[in-house]
Amino acid sequence: MSREQMLELGRQALDLVVNRIENLPDEGAWEGEFREILESHLAEDPPEGPNPPSGVLERLARDVLPFTARLDHPRFFGFIPTSSTWPGVVADLLATGYLINQCTWLVASGPSQLELVVIDWFRRWIGYPEGAGGLFTSGGSAASVDALVAAREAAGHPERATVYMSDQSHSALPRAAVVVGIPRDHIRTIPSDGSFRLDLEALSTAVAADRAAGLRPLAVCANAGTASTGAIDPLDELADFCATEDLWLHVDAAYGGFAVVTERGGQLLRGIERADSVGLDAHKWFFQPYEAGCLLVKDRETLSDAFHMPHDILQDTIWGADHPNFADIGLQLSRSARALKVWMSVQTFGMDAFRRAIENGMELAARAHDYVRASPVLEPLNTPPLGIVCFRVNPGGGLDEAALEAVNRTVLAQMFWDDPAFMSSTRLQGTFALRMCIINPATTWDDVRETLEAVERFGRKELSGKGDLA
Ligand SMILES: Cc1ncc(COP(=O)(O)O)c(C=O)c1O
Repeated sequence: MSREQMLELGRQALDLVVNRIENLPDEGAWEGEFREILESHLAEDPPEGPNPPSGVLERLARDVLPFTARLDHPRFFGFIPTSSTWPGVVADLLATGYLINQCTWLVASGPSQLELVVIDWFRRWIGYPEGAGGLFTSGGSAASVDALVAAREAAGHPERATVYMSDQSHSALPRAAVVVGIPRDHIRTIPSDGSFRLDLEALSTAVAADRAAGLRPLAVCANAGTASTGAIDPLDELADFCATEDLWLHVDAAYGGFAVVTERGGQLLRGIERADSVGLDAHKWFFQPYEAGCLLVKDRETLSDAFHMPHDILQDTIWGADHPNFADIGLQLSRSARALKVWMSVQTFGMDAFRRAIENGMELAARAHDYVRASPVLEPLNTPPLGIVCFRVNPGGGLDEAALEAVNRTVLAQMFWDDPAFMSSTRLQGTFALRMCIINPATTWDDVRETLEAVERFGRKELSGKGDLA
């Protein structure tokens, strides 16, 4: 392509992206389409000859790009959304445009140094000592796999290994255990308590029973912010337990970990610095585009011991310990330069802005919880430590659990089709729960309040049909 063609296509693409962001508040938080319709627009053989680039972009803009959840919409409260900083987006463009392969020092020394810098920021925020380290990963799932590989290798790859996690742990954790070769029936799901925190006594009983049965307990996976409610497991007590039992402690802080930069978050996450490894997702509560996961380990040697695998073709890339090759401490050889986006965002806005953005989520979640408690129609189902509020429509009029679930499912469906906000649901120890994750710094109290009012409205309508009206 000529310089003019490149710039023209780039400008058109940038226009699309900036217009999308500008128009977000006037749009619904979700857009999607059924397969049949999308296939009719898109299924085709690849063309033999060229097409005009602007026409190709137009097709993308018309037939593909609109059909995604608008995760950065101020009223997108489903799952765990992100809302990227603009410098984060631009950094991804640069990383791609410069075609960085962030694998070895020889191939990408500047980006390698930057990854060291950003990983060191994370290390200090978590409260890890000097010898700690880590790397960027695609996300929390990949970080969990890398962590359990490190745990397994540090323990000498024992046979009959078992791992432990709470019934609130994300599915990424049991999946990671399966990937590293733990048989499914050696993955212990420990019940959580009334606050959705892992029950230590049940953990201790399970570990003792496994030892008595000749199994080899390997690791405990704790939560620093569960995906369902944001619950934080008792990290200090778990660190004590794991030290006594000689178990690897991995903390899945994919969602909640970056709250540590705030005063309140730092208090809530106390003990995280005692874990052997911590997974963090900057594409959740640190406002970065996908993919921006990270694994930190307390002893960086555990990663190189687990992953270093020499290859003749890479012999020229060995520059000594002072010039680390990130490919030697994780799963990926070819890697994108993920540290750029975090670095560029933090340099542009400063940490104070990040702290305030995270605090905004915690404050709105606490206010939403107060609203739910005061509502005659809604019942709170968690006390949010971080940014997630769980509740259901339940005016307390004698509907049984099955009927309540049916009402709440209908309300959720009505929200989905008829309200601009997007919410999702979860199941809390058997109870169907509506759920809002409020972590977008652009979200205002009006966004939250009007969404809760819509839930109340749909709830009242649904209940009136059942003769159970608040
Ligand atoms: C608590 C928690 N852990 C792990 C994951 C998996 O992370 P990723 O989607 O980045 O692989 C998620 C995803 O939402 C999560 O919320």
